[in-house]
Amino acid sequence: MIPSSSILRKACSVPSWSRQVPLALRASAAQRAIARTNLLVCHLYLSPAAATFSTTSSVRSANQAKMSLPETVEAIAIDKTGDIDVLEKKKVPFPPHSPSNIVIQVRSATVVLRIALIFAFEQVAYGGVNFIDTYYRKGLYPIKSFPQILGMEASGTIVSLPTDSAVLNDDEYKKRGFKPWVFRLTLTCIPSVPQNALGVHAEFASVPWSKVFPVPDNVSLLTAAAATLQGLTAVTFLEEAYKVKPGDVVLIYTVAGGLGLLMAQLAKHAGATVIGTTSTEEKAAVARQHGADHVIIYTKENVVDRVLELTNGEGVHVVYDGVGKDTFLDNFKLTRRKGTIVSVGNASGAVEPIAPLKLVEKNLALLRPTMANYIYTPEEARYYGEKLFGYISSGVLKINIHKQYPFTTQGARDAHRDLTTKGGRTIGKLVYTIGGEA
Ligand SMILES: NC(=O)c1ccc[n+]([C@@H]2O[C@H](COP(=O)([O-])OP(=O)(O)OC[C@H]3O[C@@H](n4cnc5c(N)ncnc54)[C@H](OP(=O)(O)O)[C@@H]3O)[C@@H](O)[C@H]2O)c1
Repeated sequence: MIPSSSILRKACSVPSWSRQVPLALRASAAQRAIARTNLLVCHLYLSPAAATFSTTSSVRSANQAKMSLPETVEAIAIDKTGDIDVLEKKKVPFPPHSPSNIVIQVRSATVVLRIALIFAFEQVAYGGVNFIDTYYRKGLYPIKSFPQILGMEASGTIVSLPTDSAVLNDDEYKKRGFKPWVFRLTLTCIPSVPQNALGVHAEFASVPWSKVFPVPDNVSLLTAAAATLQGLTAVTFLEEAYKVKPGDVVLIYTVAGGLGLLMAQLAKHAGATVIGTTSTEEKAAVARQHGADHVIIYTKENVVDRVLELTNGEGVHVVYDGVGKDTFLDNFKLTRRKGTIVSVGNASGAVEPIAPLKLVEKNLALLRPTMANYIYTPEEARYYGEKLFGYISSGVLKINIHKQYPFTTQGARDAHRDLTTKGGRTIGKLVYTIGGEA
């Protein structure tokens, strides 16, 4: 049931008496309460179909539901596409809501334990920053209307579960084990590429349930916000775009980036020899600690020559290329016969079209996938969500957080500037601290 606005306001406000509790005490109280109330960190990724559904179905119910939700939220949003100065923290209308959605509170939440209302605490929440945020900001990926909240990934607390009876009776939904909002599950959410960016770098977000995943208790909200989008990408791309096998030689561009460090660890775990590229020696050292056997510093070395040297002239079995425009054609030289090129992203700009005939030079396979289409169905989402959090929980995947940025206009601009600086300001993941102090 969607909570009434008064209940929601009550749930989300910090009582004056609780502000007088020392922060350290509130934090430890929070940890104890998390353990006691079986809070779960969950992850969400909105598939293209779900994205469409969320904006078109059950308009009447959605309007009814929306009446109970906040009218506006503080968010990192843009009024037009452009350079980093279009980013602003501002009040914007609450995003479209559907009765099949889960509402997430991303900002600080007061968790009221219904059992005795003994004490309350602040729940810190985070927003993961991804390269795709910069594509939307710049206009490389289309935006339907403004203002547009950015952000594909955040951790927070469930304040409302779906009300749609079809969802409530769905077996997959039941398997997720979501509890009523009073039990305060926490979650991370990632809306989809590129149909309808439902931004979650905001105090509240309304997101479809189907890609919200419980994760183990030993995974923090910070890790959850940092790991979901890139983690699901790494897991699906190494399993489905090209299934990495023992003995394979794998090339990963921007290996010290958020996605790169995860791919390197998983490729190594799968038994491959991992070659990575990056811009500086400092980044190369971190990549080696995360599974890279060889790191090519592309500012000093020729990547094609070095890959061929490392592979006795044969080339790699698979290349994962997140740089795009600047590196794409080199992949045909450094991939071996019958190898696979996976075009992962566009950090340097979108790749120009090529003729299929170019693939006959070595009988190459070429893919340009998006993670959204690998976790399209609820079953796929659950499978990969469990797999990702299993890796994190068991220590196979370590999440390297570069920096936490404040949830402010300046914080957003700094994060986007740092992430898109070629030659490398960042190592690993960038995260907004949306909910306040850690
Ligand atoms: N298809 C999908 O579903 C999917 C999902 C997630 C991510 N991706 C893609 O994966 C790539 C990595 O994403 P991420 O979020 O993990 O970012 P990231 O790798 O952490 O991005 C930052 C790094 O990219 C490099 N870089 C920055 N600006 C560049 C530029 N103009 N030209 C070339 N390199 C530049 C720098 O690394 P160096 O110092 O090493 O150059 C920088 O440290 C992106 O292309 C992203 O779009 C795709």
